[in-house]
Amino acid sequence: MTTPKTTPEVGGMGHSIKRKEDPRFIRGKGTYVDDVVLPGMLYLDIVRSPHAHAKIVKIDTAKATAVPGVLAVITGADLAKYNLHWMPTLMSDTQMVLPVEKVMYQAQEVAAVLATTRYAAADGAAAVDVEYEPLPAVVSPQKALEPGAPVLRTDKKDKKDNHIWHWEWGDRAATDRAFAEAEVTVKEQIYIPRIHVASIETCGCVAHFDKVNDKLTVWMTTQAPHAIRTVFALVAGHVGLAEHKIRIISPDIGGGFGGKVPVYPGYVIAVAASVLTGKPVKWIEDRMENLQADSFARDYHITAELAAKKDGTLTALRIKTLADHGYTDAAANPSKFPAGLFHVCTGSYDLKAAHVEVDGAYTNKPPGGIAYRCSFRVTEAVHTIERMVDIMAHQLGQDPADFRKKNFIKPEQFPYKSALGWEYDSGNYAGALDKAMQMIGYAELKREQAEKRKRGELMGIGISSFTEIVGAGPSKHFDILGLKMFDSCEIRVHPTGKAIARFGTKSQGQGHETTYAQILAEELGIPAADIQVEEGDTDTAPYGLGTYASRSTPVAGAAAAIASRKILDKARKIAAHLLEAAPEDLVYEPGKFSVKGAPNRSKTIQDCAFAAYTNHPQGMEAGLEAVSYYDPPNLTYPFGSYICVVDIDKGTGEVKVRRFVAIDDCGNIINPMIVQGQVHGGLTMGLAPALLEEISYDEHGNVQGGSFIDYLLPTAMETPKWETGHTITPSPHHPIGAKGIGESATVGAPAAIANAVVDALWHLGVRHVDIPITPPKVWKLLRENGVTE
Ligand code: CDP
Repeated sequence: MTTPKTTPEVGGMGHSIKRKEDPRFIRGKGTYVDDVVLPGMLYLDIVRSPHAHAKIVKIDTAKATAVPGVLAVITGADLAKYNLHWMPTLMSDTQMVLPVEKVMYQAQEVAAVLATTRYAAADGAAAVDVEYEPLPAVVSPQKALEPGAPVLRTDKKDKKDNHIWHWEWGDRAATDRAFAEAEVTVKEQIYIPRIHVASIETCGCVAHFDKVNDKLTVWMTTQAPHAIRTVFALVAGHVGLAEHKIRIISPDIGGGFGGKVPVYPGYVIAVAASVLTGKPVKWIEDRMENLQADSFARDYHITAELAAKKDGTLTALRIKTLADHGYTDAAANPSKFPAGLFHVCTGSYDLKAAHVEVDGAYTNKPPGGIAYRCSFRVTEAVHTIERMVDIMAHQLGQDPADFRKKNFIKPEQFPYKSALGWEYDSGNYAGALDKAMQMIGYAELKREQAEKRKRGELMGIGISSFTEIVGAGPSKHFDILGLKMFDSCEIRVHPTGKAIARFGTKSQGQGHETTYAQILAEELGIPAADIQVEEGDTDTAPYGLGTYASRSTPVAGAAAAIASRKILDKARKIAAHLLEAAPEDLVYEPGKFSVKGAPNRSKTIQDCAFAAYTNHPQGMEAGLEAVSYYDPPNLTYPFGSYICVVDIDKGTGEVKVRRFVAIDDCGNIINPMIVQGQVHGGLTMGLAPALLEEISYDEHGNVQGGSFIDYLLPTAMETPKWETGHTITPSPHHPIGAKGIGESATVGAPAAIANAVVDALWHLGVRHVDIPITPPKVWKLLRENGVTE
């Protein structure tokens, strides 16, 4: 879509209309969970473990309960009376709400203090005396799987080791055969470290159990309110919390990025405390709790091999991965795929054979495996294939851009069935790469690099030509805890032609109030300004699986178009009635029906809406409403080509990103300004793990990145000026031809940066550097290779 079909006043697809939500955000008038204050509200604070693995000998609450304002200290033993001390994870593992016997990671919840003020709750938490008996901590997943390693999940009676699951995909025999026959192979160990979503707003909730009406309302920072309601009902049904008596409200959210999908113990404790006291209970994490205890992302130890012919034709990919899941598998993956969508790891390349294996391991670390601004491990997949392709190109002495173009899936091959079974919907990978090369001046940069190399200067050019996979997903293969991953839109057109549309998704800053209204405006011709979009209240919104993995546009966006078309079907009959014509004799353009051959005889959508309530045809139900629960036939495959130029300081090892060009293709664009904003934010969130972010642990399981002093986020100082552009290759199966965009840049950027760094150092013998590429890491490489004294 290059030229919008609607006028700027209507504001359908392709218009960069300003975000409807921003007036309240930029004036500080948003309503976040911590803005919810109810009469008589109590506050919860959490006591956390200083040990990574320890037996709980005793919890002494006497001093804590003596703190003025403290009402109670809640322990695992208290919850155990109601069988609420354990809960299921989204991957059907189990997770402690509060421990009874032992703690499994540093910063784990040990007890909770309920008080009349936030300060009293914090003082009470500091006064809880816990006696621990430290146990040996198992920190590395490799050691966790060694024979004789202490078995961590002693709660699982039959568990004899720390192995969670083995999962494999692809044709092993064909892949092995391709490797045996290969003329050239490359192999690399790639570690994608543990990182953490550091949303601007931490997690929290206000739980209010109204004893009179027997109704629980929870305002909470969740990306998936309906799924949470169902999980609460399934877990707490036995204590009287039936699903129709639970209302989850997800108000304004300050960033989710996958970290607000899981259920954290704090939510459950707050609900239990409210049910027991009948008072509203607020729990808001502080920044360090958020960083140390909430679900992490990545932590994949990958061994990858790529095979090719001497002429540079890629033939096969073989990958073995060890996934560190902490003490429980709390990833938020579709059930069928314990390693998420990692098996899209053949990327943008036409590979004839591939095989991928992943093993999950328990360690004494926080649980997780969440999709940090990516579609279930697609970042790990992209990083692996883009690094490997680059290594192979360098190994063969071929230009990485030419090498990619030679091996890309060609436009005429779509729909393309990958060696690992995915059906890519559409793409033009060379088109995006050509545009990026032109924009950055690739040939000129190569000349500059050659000259600089002669002078001993370190300059690198890195490419990442990634393919994403978003829009989970078709119900045949995709569910979370059995809930199929459809999504929904319900539209009500009011008599005066204005409308309200409600969705099963939940924006966390992506601008859904604007873009969903634009889809309706495109379809119905009702101005976007006249459409109110609502999400996040389970009492009013239709059921849906929520917003993560860039699924909103591919799934709920499609539901918006389909519900609109149902409205139009009815509006057409009403227009025919008003115009005394047959419905099939009417011509439709957005917002108006007219009689074929008599354009002056017409009725607007607003005329039809009014008639739906004042003058509807006999035999037709009054009103103009529709709902769609959209089950996508396939995922969408956005893609892009990014090119990054780095300069490396030989004295300090510092990597400076000098230029970064990003060409994205998300099919038809709803709002170009919002898409550009998503890409800018995503690129910065891709730069972060490439150069700065990592959560590591010492051998005792002490977290080394537990505050923003050690866990480095990019600031304006480290962030380059992003140069963005796009190509448009519509999705053939999506009703409006759109693909997702929210996560493309986070997924695609790290490999471009890493490839640029290795490109700068390849001639010195460097083949790979794990992210984050910090100055000490590079400096060490320079020293080892005789560049720096
Ligand atoms: O699920 P999530 O909203 O995080 O991701 P998305 O569906 O990729 O959408 C992110 C934002 O970009 C939303 O406001 C979309 O409506 C907008 N978008 C767009 O304007 N055009 C597209 N083709 C895709 C997304």
